[in-house]
Amino acid sequence: MKIHTALGVIFCLLVSACYYDKAEELYPSNYNQTDTSAASYSTFVAPLINNKCMNCHNVTAPILGDYSKLKLIVDNGKFNDRVIVQKNMPPSGLTNTELEKIKLWLAAGALNN
Ligand code: HEC
Repeated sequence: MKIHTALGVIFCLLVSACYYDKAEELYPSNYNQTDTSAASYSTFVAPLINNKCMNCHNVTAPILGDYSKLKLIVDNGKFNDRVIVQKNMPPSGLTNTELEKIKLWLAAGALNN
């Protein structure tokens, strides 16, 4: 009985000794809320729209395509509603990082930068 308790204690120590939180796994390194420089229109938003929206929005609902069209749906709230709140545009969804960067860009005034 005692040997079992001892083995149990050793096992617990081994298991707890091996457990540690990796900051980069809990908070992926690309999740960086202060990284506004990486969320400019030209380097991030425009390429993302081209890759993930324009295959449909050229034809079905041509509300995107250049900065002025995008700014219209940003200003009337539709962009925020569908992309950030409802998350149904694009229908396939965006990654958390993409969403965070878009939020940063919106929060900084949705500039044509
Ligand atoms: C698979 C095709 C497809 C993709 C990809 C897609 N959309 Fe859409 N989107 C649609 C269709 C169809 C509608 C119109 C029907 C509706 O409102 O759901 C629409 C509607 C919208 C609306 C509402 C327009 C309005 O006037 O109410 C917004 C805003 C929008 N999309 C933004 C985006 C953005 C931003 C992306 C890329 C991040 C995107 N969509 C990607 C097909 C798509």
